[in-house]
Amino acid sequence: LNYNVKRDRRFILEILFNGLRRLEYRGYDSAGISIDSSSSSDPNGQLSFSPLVFRQEGNIDSLVKSVYKDVASIKLNLEELFCVHAGIAHTRWATHGEPSPKNSHPQTSGAGNEFLVVHNGVITNYEVLKETLTRHGFNFESDTDTEVIPKLAKYVFDKATEEGDQSATFSLVVLEVMRHLEGAYALIFKSHHYPNELIACKRGSPLLLGVKELSEDMHSGAPFLDLKFISENRHPKELFLSSDASAIVEHTKKVLVIEDGEVVHLKDGGVSILKFENEKGICGNGLSRPSSVQRALSFLEMEVEQINKGKYEHYMQKEIHEQPESLTTTMRGRLKRGGSTKAKTVLLGGLKDHIKSIRRSRRIVFIGCGTSYNAALAARPIIEELSGVPVTMEIASDLVDRQGPIYREDTAVFVSQSGETADTLLALEYALENGALCVGITNTVGSAIARNTHCGIHINAGCEIGVASTKAYTSQIVVMAMLALAIGDDAISSQARREAIIDGLFDLPNKVREVLKLDQEMKELAKLLIAEQSLLVFGRGYNFATALEGALKVKEVSLMHSEGMLAGEMKHGPLALVDENLPIIVIATRDACFSKQQSVIQQLHARKGRLIVVCSKGDAAAVCPGGSSSCRVIEVPQVEDCLQPVVNIIPLQLLAYHLTVLRGYNVDQPRNLAKSVTTQ
Ligand code: G6P
Repeated sequence: LNYNVKRDRRFILEILFNGLRRLEYRGYDSAGISIDSSSSSDPNGQLSFSPLVFRQEGNIDSLVKSVYKDVASIKLNLEELFCVHAGIAHTRWATHGEPSPKNSHPQTSGAGNEFLVVHNGVITNYEVLKETLTRHGFNFESDTDTEVIPKLAKYVFDKATEEGDQSATFSLVVLEVMRHLEGAYALIFKSHHYPNELIACKRGSPLLLGVKELSEDMHSGAPFLDLKFISENRHPKELFLSSDASAIVEHTKKVLVIEDGEVVHLKDGGVSILKFENEKGICGNGLSRPSSVQRALSFLEMEVEQINKGKYEHYMQKEIHEQPESLTTTMRGRLKRGGSTKAKTVLLGGLKDHIKSIRRSRRIVFIGCGTSYNAALAARPIIEELSGVPVTMEIASDLVDRQGPIYREDTAVFVSQSGETADTLLALEYALENGALCVGITNTVGSAIARNTHCGIHINAGCEIGVASTKAYTSQIVVMAMLALAIGDDAISSQARREAIIDGLFDLPNKVREVLKLDQEMKELAKLLIAEQSLLVFGRGYNFATALEGALKVKEVSLMHSEGMLAGEMKHGPLALVDENLPIIVIATRDACFSKQQSVIQQLHARKGRLIVVCSKGDAAAVCPGGSSSCRVIEVPQVEDCLQPVVNIIPLQLLAYHLTVLRGYNVDQPRNLAKSVTTQ
C-alpha cells in the first residue's frame, strides 16, 4: 500500500487489514503488518519514519486485536501521518517453520527493521544463503526460508554504502538480492533507509499492482492507461500491491500484472519498473544496471459483489448455491443453436487457431492437482469418445517426480482453478521444454497458466473464495465437455451425440437448480453421519471422478476420513472394510455402467453394508435390494451421461458443507489447507 495523500494511520491500518481479510483464504495460520511509527522531522527538517512491525499467530482478527492493543501501549497517534505512506501486511500458510509470531511476516533484517519483507512462495536455496550470511555476522531468529531475504538486502545495502556507491537505490538493492534467490517468490520490501517507498518483485508467484486515481479528471474512462502517464502525473493516488486481485478490486480495477524478473518501485505515488535484459547479466563491478520497462495497465473483470458472501453464511455455501449462474457464465457465448450449416456447435475463441493441432495430436494428457485433476478425470471419457485421441491423466507433482514421457506430438492440458498452483506450473514448464502443445484451463485471467500456455479456455466461474473448490469444479467439467465437442466437431458420425450434449448443456443450469433443492435432505443426512469416523464413496465410468471429488470434499472440510474408490476395484480390497457400521455412498445414476453399479450395491448389501445411493429420479426401487428401506436414497435429475458428474457432485458438496458446519469446523478455512498452493 503506497499513498501520496494525507491519510491517518487508522485508515491505513484498516485498508491493510481489509486486504488481509480478502487474502485470508490463501493462508490463515499467522499474520503480520508493518506501518510507520514516527512523523517527526529530523534536525535537517526531513521527515523521518521508522517501521513498526506487528506479528501474531492465528487469523487476521487475532492480529487486529494485538495491533490495536500494542498501538495503545506505544501511544502511536493514529490520527497523524504525513502525506506519504508505505505499509505492508501478510497472511501466512506455513511452509518452513511452525505458525508463530517469529515465523510470521514481515521478516526483518534485524534490530531497527532496516529492511522488511513479505513473501509468497518458497526460497529453495535459503540454507546456503543463511550459512553465508551467518558467516557475515547475521543472526537468524526465525525458522523461515524468507528471513534470508531482508538480511541479504541489508548485506547488499551495507556493502554498497561501504564502497561509497551513491547509486544504491532501493530498486538496485532488490535487483541484486533477486540475483541470489532461487525458488518461487512474490516479494514486497519496505525499508527504513527508503521511507515512503516500496519495492515489489516476483518470480513464479503471482503479484498485481492496483492504481487508484483520486482525482476526478484522471478518470478518462479508458481502461488501459500508460504506466508512464500514471507515474508522471502528479495527482494524488493510492497504489496497491497484492498476490490476488480480490484484495485490490474494491479500491480499483486498473491493474498491472507484474511479470517475472521485474522490480516495481513505488515512490510518492509514482511507479517505475526495472528489469535485467538478460536476467543473469551483471554489468561491471558493484550493482548491476538494468533497463527500465514501460507497461500498460489492464482492467480487472472482477466485481466486488463476487467476493462478498451476500446472503450466505459461508463462501462455500454461496459458491455451491450459485452454480446455476456460474455454469451459465461458463457457457455464455460459447454454444450455438441454429444457423444454416451446422445446427448446433461450440465456439471456443481461445482455441480457434489450435483446435486442428489438438485433433491431430498423438495423445492428450490432462495435468492438474486436487479438484482440478478430478474435473479432468470426469471429462476424460467424453474427450476420448468424441476426439478418438488417447487420453492419459497426470497428477502434476507425479509427472514432475517421474519426469514422465511428454512428446512434441502430445497436447498437454493444464487444469487449474487458480492458474498458479506450483506443482502444475512446474509440470507446464516441463511440458513446454518437451515441445508439447500446452493448453490452459483456468479460472484466473492473467494467471501464470493462462499466460504461459500456447492457448486455452477461461472457465469464467467467477471468483472462488472457499478453500474447497465447488463451482470451479463443475465449470471445469463443462469447459472440458465443450472442449470434447470442439475437437470432435468434424466427425459426421457423432453429430447427433454432440447435439444431444449441447442440448444437455443448455438445460444444465436448470437441472443444477433442481438438485440444489436437496439441501435440507443433505443436512438431515449430515446429522446422521456427524459422529462417523469414516466414509467410503464408490463410483465408476463418468462418476469415478464424482467418488474421488465427493470424498475429497468431505475429508478436506469436515475432517472426516473419507475415500473415493473405483467401484470396479471394490472386490479387490475395499470390500474387506464393509460392515454394518461403515457408511458407504454409491453413485448409481443411469448410464452405461448402471447395471454394474446395481451389482456392486447387491454385493455391499449382502455384506450388510450401510448404503447411501445416489441414483436417477424414480430409480429408488431399482437400486435398493429388496426395496427402498434397505438403503438411503438420494435421487437426482438425469442428464446426458457425460454431464451427470456435474449434477451428482452437488449433493456431496452439500453433505460436506453441512457435516462441517454441524461438526463445528471452519468450512471456508479448513485446517492446514490453502486455496492456492503456490509452493511445492
Ligand atoms: C489446493 C486446493 C484445492 C485445489 C488444488 C488445485 O490443494 O486446496 O482445492 O483443488 O489446490 O488448485 P488449482 O488452483 O490448481 O485448481
